Amino acid sequence: MSTHHTAARRAEELRELIRHHEHCYFVLDRPEISDADFDHLVNELKAIEREHPELVTPDSPTQRVGGTAREGFVKVAHSAPMLSLDNAYSEDELRDWARRATELAGTAEIEFECEYKLDGLSMALHYEASEHGGARFVKGITRGDGSTGEDVTSNLRTIKSIPLTVSHAQLKKAGLTAPFEVRGEVLMPTRSFQTMNEQREEQGLAPFANPRNAAAGAVRVLEPNVTAARRLDFYSYFLLQEGRTARASQWEALEAMSAAGFKVNPNRRRAHSIEEVWQFIVETEAARDQLPYEIDGVVVKVNQTALWTRLGFTGKAPRWATAYKFAARAAITQIEDILIQVGRTGKLTPVAALNPVAIGGTMVSRATLHNQDEIERLGVRIGDHVMVERGGDVIPKVTRVVDDKDHPRGTRKFAMPAHCPECGGHVVRAEGEVNSFCVNVNCPARLRESLLHFASRKVMNIEGLGEALVDQLLSRGLVTNIADLYDLGEEQLLTLDRMGKKSVENLLGEIAASKKLPLERLIFGLGIRMVGERTAEFLSAHFGSLDALMAANEEQLLEVEEVGPRIAQSILQFFAEEKNQKLIERLRAAELNFTGEKKVRGTKLAGLTFVLTGTLPTYSRDEAKRRIEDAGGKVSSAVSKKTSYVVAGEEAGSKLEKAQQLGVAVLDEAALLKMLED
Ligand code: IVH
Repeated sequence: MSTHHTAARRAEELRELIRHHEHCYFVLDRPEISDADFDHLVNELKAIEREHPELVTPDSPTQRVGGTAREGFVKVAHSAPMLSLDNAYSEDELRDWARRATELAGTAEIEFECEYKLDGLSMALHYEASEHGGARFVKGITRGDGSTGEDVTSNLRTIKSIPLTVSHAQLKKAGLTAPFEVRGEVLMPTRSFQTMNEQREEQGLAPFANPRNAAAGAVRVLEPNVTAARRLDFYSYFLLQEGRTARASQWEALEAMSAAGFKVNPNRRRAHSIEEVWQFIVETEAARDQLPYEIDGVVVKVNQTALWTRLGFTGKAPRWATAYKFAARAAITQIEDILIQVGRTGKLTPVAALNPVAIGGTMVSRATLHNQDEIERLGVRIGDHVMVERGGDVIPKVTRVVDDKDHPRGTRKFAMPAHCPECGGHVVRAEGEVNSFCVNVNCPARLRESLLHFASRKVMNIEGLGEALVDQLLSRGLVTNIADLYDLGEEQLLTLDRMGKKSVENLLGEIAASKKLPLERLIFGLGIRMVGERTAEFLSAHFGSLDALMAANEEQLLEVEEVGPRIAQSILQFFAEEKNQKLIERLRAAELNFTGEKKVRGTKLAGLTFVLTGTLPTYSRDEAKRRIEDAGGKVSSAVSKKTSYVVAGEEAGSKLEKAQQLGVAVLDEAALLKMLED
């Protein structure tokens, strides 16, 4: 058999395996193999596809990111209108809805089906028959105005819980034939949302207000890579054929989609009475805070789809379904003052001091206003009545000003102070940044926050070193920087309030244990501006020791994943500071762990520097960069005499010219691959 045939067989085998494991991981949340083993399968498939580009199929798991950005979105008509739902805000309203539905249905045998009301965006996914008796994802459309939406197929392809193909076996199991349409909700899990916002804040970008907005933005960007990076999820809740529901009951439709490999929320229930529906609602509301995504209610549908036609519609909503909405986790209250909080990096955050108000069972008296731009965008003044919202476990935030005759506008405008309210230091706002900073590195508020950050669970995990203790240590002058923590002795600690022999022993044990933590934690703990958890991990893996990181110049820092010029500058500034150098020497003397595990890299290209330019025939720029780096080479962005090779693809421009001027060797992709393989 020719190598082509062997490769084709192996590629198909790998695709099957990858699809199976993607389904286990992303749809069922039940992985069967390790991430590393999974990556291994994907890499093997990618290698085959690179060798035999003719074997690449559009629905190969390697083709989730379609690559190129587009000009705009094409409008597409829906097979049947995508409707909205009427709401019920109380048990009474829910009962009224059920009574009317039962009357109109003309049967007491009516059943209900309850689902979570996911707080995302609805989408319509179209599948068509594929060669092998299966089905293939061909089009994904936003809701739009309900009758026409936008074609966002390439972006939706990056969502791993959306199957690109459904096998013949799956269709059979589901009793389904293509073409068909699946409708459901795209959402961003709360954790992805928080991580994304933390990163944005570190980079000086405005955070997204809520997961829904972040998901909406991600679905409508013109660059599928951005959608992919936002880690979205998709839950299916409607199955249609020719614009009509494809099953006798909603329950069966959900089961069929699940059997076909779609992600269907397991939190659902059939109910035979409104009491049972209510029970589900009560349980759901109690579980709401523990869910990994946001929901804003429960959707109750009449289960028997034959009754749907009989019940019909009112305006834009069906009578056979309703949305029971939870009490809004938002409330109107007055801003009494706008205070300034100084963070560990010296960042000044305006915080609204609120007239305390209960939101979803918690009293809220503070809400973040993020920064000066946000205050201007909202048009908030001190004394205004505002809407305050609280999401999952997100900090409450002001979302808009409420301006009506009962709520006259406030009169005092807020302005970012020129001096730090904690220490009187100068406040600066760098060109192009949204955040303002206190420039005094000795600002007591910064010190307090940096100690709390250093001791926190994700950093050095020093349990017991919380606010109360940090405040005492500071006011007694026992600690003036993080290194002082490692000099604390039993006697000093015993003099503090509420510190008995046992708690002192525990604390000293915790402090001692923190010395052994991985290097990335220490890097994160130093509090270098724009260096968050992720960047710290990359830095540790890249340099392998704190000394190597400290010795790195800008060019070397820029080689690290996700480190751009601004982060590089911030790192350089931090280590250039004499005070910080002294601090690090004391941490070394205290025997903290200064070395980490350097990512094992090849050595084939060690000592060589590459510059990539133009479009390569098969590799993306990022892939080529990774391959070079994995082989020990460096990739830099500008051509200089130190450049070993310029790798040029199509439409290579000025960098190629520069290489020729300087006499730097130029390679094409094939030559690069050869170097990697030899
Ligand atoms: S059924 C006519 N089921 O709520 C049917 N919708 O207000 C409408 N939603 O646009 C959709 N979770 O974005 C349905 N389990 C669920 C839902 C759900 C969230 C959203 C959906 C829709 C909106 C209707």
